[in-house]
Amino acid sequence: MQTQSSTAKKAFRLAVIPGDGIGKEVTAEAVKVIEAVGQKFGRAFELEELPWSADHYLQTGTTIPPNGYDTLREFDAIFIGALGDPRVPDNRHARDILLGTRFELDLYVNYRPVKLLHERLCPLKGRGPKDVNFVVFRENTEGVYVGIGGRFKAGTDQEIAIQEEINTYRGVHRIIKYAFEHAKARGLSKVCMADKSNAMTHGHALWQRVFREIAPQYPSIEATHYYIDALAMYMVVDPGQFQVIVTNNLFGDIITDLAATFQGGLGMAASGNIHPGKPSMFEPVHGSAPKFAGKNIANPLGAISSAALMLETLGLQTEAAAIDAAVLAAVTAGQGTPDIGGNLGTREVGSWIAGHVERT
Ligand SMILES: NC(=O)c1ccc[n+]([C@@H]2O[C@H](COP(=O)([O-])OP(=O)(O)OC[C@H]3O[C@@H](n4cnc5c(N)ncnc54)[C@H](O)[C@@H]3O)[C@@H](O)[C@H]2O)c1
Repeated sequence: MQTQSSTAKKAFRLAVIPGDGIGKEVTAEAVKVIEAVGQKFGRAFELEELPWSADHYLQTGTTIPPNGYDTLREFDAIFIGALGDPRVPDNRHARDILLGTRFELDLYVNYRPVKLLHERLCPLKGRGPKDVNFVVFRENTEGVYVGIGGRFKAGTDQEIAIQEEINTYRGVHRIIKYAFEHAKARGLSKVCMADKSNAMTHGHALWQRVFREIAPQYPSIEATHYYIDALAMYMVVDPGQFQVIVTNNLFGDIITDLAATFQGGLGMAASGNIHPGKPSMFEPVHGSAPKFAGKNIANPLGAISSAALMLETLGLQTEAAAIDAAVLAAVTAGQGTPDIGGNLGTREVGSWIAGHVERT
């Protein structure tokens, strides 16, 4: 008889937004794997698909319904494929659905594990899984992405464009604190904060102040600092020195794409947008890759690993570990899409992972 913990009785309500392009294809595979996990471990997952996408916007004129963010708050977690479509050149639907949800649900932690599963996937010479295994925490609700600014005399040769960067004590404090707490909970010994305080002497002085304030509260953790440009260089030449990196919204966005290449490319990278204790959102790092759409060639492993992060955050560690083990087994056995040197299609990879979860 299967032993069940108290969470086993709970049905998990999951919102699923496949979105655009390959987002729809990789989401279908993530859903397949979540359902396999449900079967295997006796978990009830109630998946509700929301149609918010470029197609939906073009048909209805609505990016997200007026009560859309409240709808999302009713779920235990949210899964998103990807958003972006050339027919919506200003990407307004993506802005409302993706950035809007991050801001409205106050998902201040962007969690990006960077774990190399096999050395043949890494473009860094001589580097293997022991050298690439760290996490990046990107502040997800402030910085330059808040959209404060404007253009004066737009379109003329006197145009002035202003884009403000917002750093608040509360915002900087909670993301740095989260990074240290993550390290402490997992017995990690290093946290590195990256900013550009030598040039951005106001906003990033606040990051310096908060980092100096919090670091001494964790005497067993070595707190280091790099300017972001130096960090980018050290990530390439010596990635093994990193365990936890914490940085702002813009810098985190850039370095996590760089880090994705260490793992085998954008198709491999998973992410979570988290507010601890509240409904959080999980998505592969990649976009909708329109030129890959409909060809059954998109790598679904980033999406499937994002589903594992979602289950882990919901407290389902065993289930998440089963997915991670299946992804590792697939990569080790060369059962992947062409971008990682395999010859399977998107659907076949999803079925392989689901089958592995069911069998082992
Ligand atoms: N979170 C998101 O939803 C998100 C993120 C980035 C970009 N976008 C949007 O996606 C659209 C396309 O953007 P882009 O081309 O700059 O980035 P992209 O991530 O969609 O694709 C860039 C390239 O990365 C590779 N790639 C990405 N995902 C892959 C996968 N699963 N399997 C195999 N290869 C993969 C492909 O070579 C692709 O051409 C744009 O509209 C953009 O705004 C959305």
